[in-house]
Amino acid sequence: MSFPDIRPRRLRRTPAIRRLVEENRLAPSELVLPLFLKEGLTEPKPITSMPGVLQHTRESLRKAAAEAVAAGVGGLMLFGVPDDANKDATGSAGLDPDGILNVGLRDLRAELGDSTVIMSDLCLDEFTSHGHCGVLAADGSVDNDATLAIYADMAIAQVEAGAHMVGPSGMMDGQIGVVRKALDGAGHQDISILAYSAKYASAFFGPFREAVESSLDGDRRQYQQDPANAREALREVELDIAEGADIVMVKPGLPYLDIIAAIRDHVTVPVAAYQVSGEYAMVEAAAANGWIDRERAILESLTAIKRAGAQIALTYWATEAANLLRERY
Ligand code: PBG
Repeated sequence: MSFPDIRPRRLRRTPAIRRLVEENRLAPSELVLPLFLKEGLTEPKPITSMPGVLQHTRESLRKAAAEAVAAGVGGLMLFGVPDDANKDATGSAGLDPDGILNVGLRDLRAELGDSTVIMSDLCLDEFTSHGHCGVLAADGSVDNDATLAIYADMAIAQVEAGAHMVGPSGMMDGQIGVVRKALDGAGHQDISILAYSAKYASAFFGPFREAVESSLDGDRRQYQQDPANAREALREVELDIAEGADIVMVKPGLPYLDIIAAIRDHVTVPVAAYQVSGEYAMVEAAAANGWIDRERAILESLTAIKRAGAQIALTYWATEAANLLRERY
């Protein structure tokens, strides 16, 4: 019988020893809370496929945002959900200063000032009658360059409404460069861009479609990335950084940890990851059935995203996770 000389278990023996050798520790300030503001609501409305997440009224949005900031969350990402009557082929409500997203940005900025980082989703899918992230060409495909011109104006409208940082998420070629140029031209050279650089055509966005009442019929494979591809993500990131991205993001999170790690090794800008609606729904559904320890699964999944190399995580659990972390450390 031979016994091991080296015993890694020694460093796992007590909570104090484990804490001492912990390699990655999440901080509330690294978490960003996505929020949905729905036009014309009088009461906050639950999103069935995302238990615990709400479509907010203007009033409940301000409250949820203030709670997140009080919990130490690092930022907020706002999505607007317009009335169906305000959707059209070009998503014009996204540019309207009185469109629901811009109204929400103004409310958040008035409520919170510079005490947090207010981010805006810069994409047309919530605002178009067909649900695509851009405008359509005659053949029904998404017209890249015609969409860019709209993103440019949309970025300015969002910043003038109060966004500290814009998040172009439509996966149009050249979108970061166009937004950067538009912001610079309007005197907003100090506003930063969180680029959804490696965004995959993912089934894990499913519940989000309910959250924003998307009209999409079909899929986004002509502009979002193929889940089979990794090197392509590096190319997207390189282009976005060359065009002026301040932060690059991978989306979804947990199924794409390899992509996060590869990007982290490849770039020097901060890397973010978006733990998306389907990732949230899976844990909530399993927990509701008693099949998984909910809080442990939340923190474990976020820790995995950090360990892979993302220093910022967008998560619907941001406020709760921030509170759990403050209790723990
Ligand atoms: C596009 C956008 C989407 C998500 C964030 N921004 C939807 C899509 O690209 O299909 C998905 C987020 C999630 O699933 O939690 N505006």
